Amino acid sequence: MTTETGTFKWKGRLGPFDLHVSEHTFRPSTISVLLADALKVSEGDTVVDVGCGSGVLSIVAAKLGAARVYGVDAAPDVVEVASENASRHGVANITTFLQGDLFEPLPPGLQADVVIGDVSGIPDLIAAESGWFPSREGGGPRGSELPIRMLEGVQDVLRRGGRFFLPTGTLQDEAAILEKARSIFAKLTQVKERAIPLPTSLSQSAEVLQLMKDRVIDLTSRGSRKLWTARVWEGLLV
Ligand SMILES: C[S@@+](CC[C@H](N)C(=O)[O-])C[C@H]1O[C@@H](n2cnc3c(N)ncnc32)[C@H](O)[C@@H]1O
Repeated sequence: MTTETGTFKWKGRLGPFDLHVSEHTFRPSTISVLLADALKVSEGDTVVDVGCGSGVLSIVAAKLGAARVYGVDAAPDVVEVASENASRHGVANITTFLQGDLFEPLPPGLQADVVIGDVSGIPDLIAAESGWFPSREGGGPRGSELPIRMLEGVQDVLRRGGRFFLPTGTLQDEAAILEKARSIFAKLTQVKERAIPLPTSLSQSAEVLQLMKDRVIDLTSRGSRKLWTARVWEGLLV
């Protein structure tokens, strides 16, 4: 995977379209594609996209009819990169991108109809080893710490009756994230599931073997390949 500035072709929902990406930008993944497919946005909705990366899901939400979309990411150049992508795709007047931690940069008192919660969520050791994240940082030692911190803040920005879209997977402490999500949402429904092969170099790494031994992550075998399972959940706040 290259981490240079360049163009990424989005082939998911409403694609194909090109996205500008820098050395700090997360390249949209299979999870991004699953999330985009799961996303339900009604005409006029206010949407928050936390962990927005290139802004891809914000752009999809805007094109699906959102009236206003706020994307937040910790990447240092998210405002420039995601704003350029929104302009390129004709949704600059609907989208606002902010740099910072989780919901912290959002306008005070904002009440969203939809929150997409796609922050980094694999164990730090796998993030460092895989190179999937330009920052090389994951979601904490078990991959669950950052998603749980995000879930703890969601009730401040999601209106009652609002929808939350959450990716999880067996490449993190999924049970801990789901326990937290179930304590917040009256209804939590799995809307997508996909088995994804783990590159052999990674599945045989000392880090992955130790995390499996510690039962933080859970891989299945198909022939000589190891796979992890990604899921997308829709939570309803009552
Ligand atoms: C799995 S990527 C998803 C990016 C984007 N949603 C997509 O589908 O391409 C997770 C994103 O979370 C961002 N992130 C990590 N820690 C964060 C934090 N504390 N607050 C906001 N964003 C964060 C990362 O920079 C990264 O862009």
